[in-house]
Amino acid sequence: MTRLSFHLDGEAPGSQARATSFKTLHTQVETPLFMPVGTQATVKGLRVEDLEKTGANILLANTYHLLLRPGPEVFEKLGGIHRMMNWSGSVLTDSGGFQIFSLPNARTMTEEGARFKSYVDGRSILLTPEKSITTQKSIGSDIMMVLDQCVPSTSEHKFAKDAMELTHRWAKRSLAARGNSPQSMFGIIQGACFEDLRKQSADFICDLPFDGFAIGGLAVGESKQEREDFTELTTQWMPKDRPRYLMGVGTPIDLLEAVHRGVDMFDCIIPTAYAQQSFAFTTKGQLRLERQVYKFQDEALDPACDCYTCKNYSRAYIHHLFKARENLGAQLLSIHNLRFYDRLTKAMRAKILDGSFLSFYQEQRELLVRRDQ
Ligand code: GUN
Ligand code: ZN
Repeated sequence: MTRLSFHLDGEAPGSQARATSFKTLHTQVETPLFMPVGTQATVKGLRVEDLEKTGANILLANTYHLLLRPGPEVFEKLGGIHRMMNWSGSVLTDSGGFQIFSLPNARTMTEEGARFKSYVDGRSILLTPEKSITTQKSIGSDIMMVLDQCVPSTSEHKFAKDAMELTHRWAKRSLAARGNSPQSMFGIIQGACFEDLRKQSADFICDLPFDGFAIGGLAVGESKQEREDFTELTTQWMPKDRPRYLMGVGTPIDLLEAVHRGVDMFDCIIPTAYAQQSFAFTTKGQLRLERQVYKFQDEALDPACDCYTCKNYSRAYIHHLFKARENLGAQLLSIHNLRFYDRLTKAMRAKILDGSFLSFYQEQRELLVRRDQ
């Protein structure tokens, strides 16, 4: 028995796409699902009310950052992340495995864990699987991730194999550290871009009693084609009766391609990070609002969108905000982009359930990659 009461609601004919639902400690969630990134227990620039109106019902926070600041003691004192940030949706915490991989400064990996220097005060920190899990317990997330070792997709076989095997031993230690906590826990499949390693990792991780399974180690240097091929390869070895989560992916087209290949859940900084660069995703492709062509355009970003931004503001105003370097520009685009991702995942779900996903997939493949000229 898993902690999530998982249900497979439907499968798309001619595709690996599926619609599923499950229950966390806080909410009922439906897939395909996108989780906005709230690294520091906030989605940059957005109030919880704004976030809720985008349709988001679960967000991702990072154990690595929250361990260093404010620290687990603060979450314990204040009754966990939900109460502290006034969020009644669900929270998934990533373990720190990816942040260790992307640390600019030196870190040392041993059997025990990863040692690195805190960017807050320079202290030396040892992040072990146990430390990651006790921190995620203090944070009080609905879904905890195991501590893993993510390596570049271009790694050599021996290096990728050693990291994968360490990830497997850490997965068992993470599970043991959960004890009888009611929080769910997902395992992470690694193995870089090697078919034999991905198979070994899927077999090992999916044999453990996790509530869901993630594909890690993608979107870290491989081509789009490789990412799609390894996603498709890996999902076929994953059980049908638990959620499948592709970590750190991606653009709207990446989501469409991965859902077609059997993935249920995603997280990515793209909708909010691209908003800072003035990019908006629309049903007709991507816009970059900084461009002069928008100076006099009195229409919404996307006339087909029902978000707060599109209902109230013109392209010309948002263009102006970017020119004037006003924060509100990125904030309004974050709201729109998150609403776009939410509507895209909900549209995919509806199409999976009514049997028309494959034609939706073919039509959207063309539309989603268009850019303003
Ligand atoms: N986020 C994106 N990729 C990864 C990964 O491989 N591991 C973890 N823990 N988080 C990720
Ligand atoms: Zn909008």
